[in-house]
Amino acid sequence: MKTKAQLKELFSSRGVSLSLLDYLEKYGDPNKIEEQVKEVLNGVPIQYVVGNVDFYRANLEVNSSVLIPRFETEELCDKVIQILKSWQQDELSIADIGTGSGCIAITMKQAFPKARVTGVDISLDALEVAKRNGIRNHVDILWQCGNLLQPLEGKYDCIISNPPYIDEKDPEVMTQVRTYEPHLALFAEEEGYANYHKILTGVKPYLKEQYLLAFEIGYQQKEHLEKYARNLFPDAMVSVEKDISGKDRFLFILKK
Ligand SMILES: C[S@@+](CC[C@H](N)C(=O)[O-])C[C@H]1O[C@@H](n2cnc3c(N)ncnc32)[C@H](O)[C@@H]1O
Repeated sequence: MKTKAQLKELFSSRGVSLSLLDYLEKYGDPNKIEEQVKEVLNGVPIQYVVGNVDFYRANLEVNSSVLIPRFETEELCDKVIQILKSWQQDELSIADIGTGSGCIAITMKQAFPKARVTGVDISLDALEVAKRNGIRNHVDILWQCGNLLQPLEGKYDCIISNPPYIDEKDPEVMTQVRTYEPHLALFAEEEGYANYHKILTGVKPYLKEQYLLAFEIGYQQKEHLEKYARNLFPDAMVSVEKDISGKDRFLFILKK
């Protein structure tokens, strides 16, 4: 068993941030520390190594079947919650398309306990994780396996999605992301736009008279998606907002 000083030296000599060692000490399994150190040094994302992550008001299990929830997605949830709270309407119906760990669906149910919340994913393995996360966070959500909007039933006040949106050829994708996170959660055809196109062209039958559509988008996708959405939803308010780092990140289509 290595001492803390030895571990620090090991991390420094491999150019791995010491903050990861602190994280491991705080959230890792003390009985598996040697094994977990090895995984971190090999480049496995720290959240997969410890097996969970905090997101908004939830703690979520994560494993290699699900994307590690990002800060930007917390921001998306926060913005959606603010808009929906302003409607002063508790009994909302909300769907999260491409739910992964269930982070968005769970956050919505925590914010609106009377809402009917549905989480959809095409990956059964991801959905198993989402289901366990629902139980872990004591929220009742309808988890459905299927292709984008296909499993939805009825009409919704709000549909949210952080779909896979990276172009497979994008050279900017970090090696760690490409190596460890599920490709099904990352990449999409049509230069990354395929899922937005499918959702935006097919979503109208699932929307109530007044609605909010909210998406996380790639920071270079604003121009195309704003135009695409304005063409399809001429009577709604279409806007793109920036994330905390100043990058275009969220697409909202609001009809109220
Ligand atoms: C970018 S991840 C987002 C996960 C989670 N919502 C989050 O924000 O961290 C996209 C998710 O969409 C799922 N997915 C990919 N293609 C899909 C499809 N055709 N229908 C439904 N879900 C899909 C993936 O399995 C993955 O869990």
